[in-house]
Amino acid sequence: MSATEPAASVASDGFDRRRELQAFDDTKAGVKGLVDAGVTAIPAIFRHAPESLEATSSPPPTDVVAAGIIIPVIDLAAAPRGEVANQMKRAAETVGFFQVTNHGVPRERMAGVLAGVRRFNEQPAEVKRRFYTRDTARKVRFSSNYDLFQSKAANWRDTLFCELAPDPPRPEELPEAVRDVMLEYGDAATKLALWVLELLSESLGLGSDHLRQMGCAQSLNVASHYYPPCPEPHLTLGTSRHADATFVTVLLQDMGGLQVLLDRRGWVDVPPLPGALIVNIGDFLQLVSNGRFRSVEHRVLANKSRDTPRVSVACFFNADTKRSTRLYGPITDGSDPPLYKSVTAREFVAYSYSKGLDGRPLEHFRLGAEEHYS
Ligand code: OGA
Ligand code: NI
Repeated sequence: MSATEPAASVASDGFDRRRELQAFDDTKAGVKGLVDAGVTAIPAIFRHAPESLEATSSPPPTDVVAAGIIIPVIDLAAAPRGEVANQMKRAAETVGFFQVTNHGVPRERMAGVLAGVRRFNEQPAEVKRRFYTRDTARKVRFSSNYDLFQSKAANWRDTLFCELAPDPPRPEELPEAVRDVMLEYGDAATKLALWVLELLSESLGLGSDHLRQMGCAQSLNVASHYYPPCPEPHLTLGTSRHADATFVTVLLQDMGGLQVLLDRRGWVDVPPLPGALIVNIGDFLQLVSNGRFRSVEHRVLANKSRDTPRVSVACFFNADTKRSTRLYGPITDGSDPPLYKSVTAREFVAYSYSKGLDGRPLEHFRLGAEEHYS
């Protein structure tokens, strides 16, 4: 993957950003390594511009309560199927995020993978170092900030990335701390994703199998994030503002910190709901649904707690971005003009990655007004 050099790598104060990034990366110990070394101030590479930190102060408790209503909670087992599909449609068309309960993923698997990820990150640095790489040919890679050398500012987070489908890693390739739990959780999350895709297909008026048949869940990449406590959480972020370059994402979080950017309300917390999972629409599903379903930007605040790390596990479901040559374009019934160009999953993901976390790659594929009618 080609790393785009930041335009100005040497700031006017003489701070050599590129060198600092390299020195940090060379430690292979991530943000956790800095915390273990006892830093009381965040290094300059982690400082974000004031505009990307806006409204990072904790909202009053009433807002948190309201957020529970703003981000819909859908009980997958409660209502008749058609009603559940309707609830999901409304959520997908408006906030692009919802939480699901009675989702079929066993609690032990959720707790198991969270504990495994924590265990992995809290092992001695020498053990983790063996997995530290930016080589995308490796299916299992640990790093701090996968866009470290592309982004404007680094995030207070370390990530273990595992490509589980369509070609699962050999069990020995997975760190022992997560070996069984990762594969078990991945299987359960896949069942849920397929269920969600059925309901979303139905809510678009398509056959239940439509999105699955298109290959929307052919690949599964799992990003397991570890957000160590941050000594200056008001100056940085846990994950920068971004939208997911997926069809659909299933996210497990163990504590708050995730925020969604809503049109009229600004940044809204997604409150942790014990036992629930978060589902969000990715860019590719926005494209394929011709803009009916929305891929909404989100971010994670830097961990403000004194001594508890935040752990989250994001399952990214997508087409087979390595092999599929299929062109994905908007599904329309002919009455609404297509809003986006058709693109292969590979091209879309490559373009998104080249932009790093900040930016809206989907806009690059939007058809101009003149092209709609040509
Ligand atoms: C992501 C993401 C949120 C979280 O990995 O794309 O948005 O809570 N993660 O870690
Ligand atoms: Ni995301």
